[in-house]
Amino acid sequence: MPWALPIIGHLHLLGQYEVPYQAFKVISKTHGSIFRLKLGVVPAIVVNGLENIKEVLFVKATDFDGRPNISRYNDLFSGNRENSLAFCNFSNLQKLRREILQVHTFPRNFSSRFLKLDSIINLEMNELKSKINKENCLTNFKIHLSSTIANVFFIYFCSKRFDTSLPKFQEMIQNYDSVFYEVNQGYASDFLPWLSYFQSKNHTRKLSQMSKAIRAFVMENLMNDRIVKYERNERNNNDEEDYVDSLLERVYNNRDKAKMDLNTALFSLEDIVGGHTAISNFIMKTLGFLVNHPNVQAKIQKEVDAITLISRDVTLADRKQMPYTEATILESIRMIASPIVPHVATQNSSIGGFEVKKDTMIFLNNYDLNMSPELWSEPENFQPERFINADGRIVKPEHFLPFSGGRRSCMGNKMVQLISFTTLASLFQSYDLKKLPGQQYKVPIGDLALPYNTFRFNFSPRNLRL
Ligand code: HEM
Repeated sequence: MPWALPIIGHLHLLGQYEVPYQAFKVISKTHGSIFRLKLGVVPAIVVNGLENIKEVLFVKATDFDGRPNISRYNDLFSGNRENSLAFCNFSNLQKLRREILQVHTFPRNFSSRFLKLDSIINLEMNELKSKINKENCLTNFKIHLSSTIANVFFIYFCSKRFDTSLPKFQEMIQNYDSVFYEVNQGYASDFLPWLSYFQSKNHTRKLSQMSKAIRAFVMENLMNDRIVKYERNERNNNDEEDYVDSLLERVYNNRDKAKMDLNTALFSLEDIVGGHTAISNFIMKTLGFLVNHPNVQAKIQKEVDAITLISRDVTLADRKQMPYTEATILESIRMIASPIVPHVATQNSSIGGFEVKKDTMIFLNNYDLNMSPELWSEPENFQPERFINADGRIVKPEHFLPFSGGRRSCMGNKMVQLISFTTLASLFQSYDLKKLPGQQYKVPIGDLALPYNTFRFNFSPRNLRL
């Protein structure tokens, strides 16, 4: 174990880097690929290297499927992080929540859900483009993009579309964005709980109010009508089941061992609808990279023009014939190197022969898997080509695990790739992305979130087809 300071333990080591995970690689050079840290009051283990990470995620998945008990997470989920899909411990209920979700977030290619998603994205992208056409340097483009993706989510999961100019809609978008930003931050007080006494109570109160407001919006606008239908037993069995139906089916016609109550259903819906923020922040970061790489933009444009013959909208079916666009998305995910949410040992176990005590927090060094010069050539450079083989097909190396794997893996993996694909292909079909004077285009890495006020772009029409 590296040398620790009194009280704070090794926390000081993490603060010295742009991304705390960079510290893990540096420490591993002197302390081996697996080492212990004391972060404030929390015992932790850092795991570097693909084989060790696979042992945690797959081989001994049941020993390491817990999540840390961080009080901020409790505050955001009505005092109980078990309400959250990502921050709860594993349980029969979590297994059920994942099963219910899977059908919706991993639509089989060309299934009716896949085609439904395809037409929704197209409809919403045309809306976004008509806003860009009126004002090609939209103030706070991020919020316009978030509103677009939010409507994709609302229609797909809840069969509901909103007028994006409504103040209550705008407020909801901003609330989601702020809460997403918050859960992507790490604070010393996560490891030294007494520090929170010195933190601004205003900040905590504001976030807790925002998450309450989100819940109220979801209940009032997405759940209430449907609950009434279920209570009156009026659901039409011919309706295609959306995610709200899948949840309420379990609440009202319970056939599972794990109990899904209305409250759990509400939290699950609120959580998954919030996935729109992850995707819009991700696309914004991707645009942040691409504004600095006109050559990559040109290659996407060449691909999209060849497929659509500049005469039709992009569809999800085009994705397989557009490897360069897909590779650009993978390259952006790699460069952002968003961390794997920490796991927790649920029993005494071991990793790579290294003893691990129950309740130890486990950091899986995904940053290193994405950025190590031993695994990638010129890892600091944005090069989508690295994901395309000599036959022009997409290849993902085994060490590329941006969505993690196993029983706590990301539930949004496919949605991210499908929605980002159409959004990017469709934007570059119509515009060149240009810099605006005075704007800085440095994309923060090491987490998915961007601040509410972030870079803006000039979307310059290509004059091919608008
Ligand atoms: C580029 C965007 C995204 C990236 C890179 C990403 C990555 C991840 C990672 C690394 C984890 C942790 C896995 C683990 O602990 O082993 C995770 C968890 C999760 N993600 Fe994502 N994610 C993204 C977007 C989304 C979206 C859009 C959704 C929802 C539609 C989503 C839903 C979830 C859920 C529910 C979990 C928790 C799963 C569990 O703990 O059982 N993610 N994600």
